[in-house]
Amino acid sequence: MKPFEYGNPTKLIFGDGKLEALKTEIPQYGKKVLVIYGGGSIKRNGLYDQVMKYLREIDTEVFELSGVEPNPRLTTVHKGVAICKEEQIDFLLAVGGGSVVDCTKAIAAGAKYDGDVWDIIDKKAVAKDALPLGTVLTLAATGSEMNAGSVITKWDTQQKIGWGSPFVFPKFSILEPKNTLTVPKDQTMYGMVDIMSHVLEQYFHHGAPTPIQDGFAETILRTVIDVGPKLMEDLENVEHRATILYSGTMALNGTLSMGIGAGDWATHNMEHAVSAVYDITHAGGLAILFPNWMRYTLDEDVTRFKQLATNVFDIDPAGKTDREIAEAGIDALSAFWTSIGAPNRLADYNIDDAKLSVMADHAAKNGPFGNFKKLDHADVMEIYKMSL
Ligand code: NZQ
Ligand code: ZN
Repeated sequence: MKPFEYGNPTKLIFGDGKLEALKTEIPQYGKKVLVIYGGGSIKRNGLYDQVMKYLREIDTEVFELSGVEPNPRLTTVHKGVAICKEEQIDFLLAVGGGSVVDCTKAIAAGAKYDGDVWDIIDKKAVAKDALPLGTVLTLAATGSEMNAGSVITKWDTQQKIGWGSPFVFPKFSILEPKNTLTVPKDQTMYGMVDIMSHVLEQYFHHGAPTPIQDGFAETILRTVIDVGPKLMEDLENVEHRATILYSGTMALNGTLSMGIGAGDWATHNMEHAVSAVYDITHAGGLAILFPNWMRYTLDEDVTRFKQLATNVFDIDPAGKTDREIAEAGIDALSAFWTSIGAPNRLADYNIDDAKLSVMADHAAKNGPFGNFKKLDHADVMEIYKMSL
């Protein structure tokens, strides 16, 4: 196990009926609140009205920024920063999925920065402060509700960049499983693929033995594999929604990476390059790329892949070499994702080889990446080609 420090300042407020906590949490940070949301799902399912009712009851001055895109764009972040600066906003409330939360984090940092917030996202500057923010999460997927990360797209240059700052940890996140009941079937599936991918990004490391961390990770994976298909058949089952919602938070709030280092994250980097160029759903790209990253990096540590195969996918080891067991586990992961409706080839998005090198340029822009196995431009091209 590697040395580590751990701290997570986000107050997690979980369970149906917890929305009212807005009334006790927000007044700690001020009166002028910018409510940030997406394309309208919260208006259709009634959550917007409930949030506004509570905000009225605590006598806040409410401002709004709507229309945050899935794969949130820098242009929208700029709009939010401008509102914060003009109106002297005290607190940001994100109501939505990971895109809304990520956009809110960038606005929070931008509001306290004199230049263009893109400097911070593109690592040319470091955030020294941020407005406080809270979230009401409506979709189980990214873990952004309890971490310091955010992913923003600059569409004109086709850059989609993950960045982070300790200043943008949400002060609180309210997770009511009932608020995820209206998530459509495809987004429900994508969320589960993203959750499993976050676990897998942290599962492949060179810090073993890490039996506690492995157990946490394998439990989340097995739980999603067990509950996921049941949820896909019964989207209004609030117990299943709660289990998946909690899985998403636990997959990426720092718990799994204690003692293992940073995690690998090469697949996320390669996927961000794909969705920056083609604007596909993040987890659709992950479902295609992850099994191929695994096949490509298998020889880095076959025993780790074997452990995944036996402990998570119940692959029978009898009569098989370690490599065969490991490969059967990768096939089982890919088959599981296909079974819940995920794509498994870039061709499923009509992506051919025309822009593979453009995407690889983006992915490898800052040199070799990935902490389990370093990948360079040529490696990325190979994995993209395996994924066509
Ligand atoms: O915009 P609205 O109308 O709200 O609709 C959204 C959107 O169309 C809809 N939705 C959300 N909650 C709903 C709902 N529809 C009905 N009922 C509800 N309760 O779902 C669609 C997708 O929402 P989005 O927020 O984009 O999804 P997700 O949470 O998967 O976030 C994806 C973004 O997060 C980034 C991704 O790259 C992508 O940009 N990531 C952020 C991470 C982080 N900050 O730690 C890590 C991840 O790996 C990921 O990269
Ligand atoms: Zn992800």
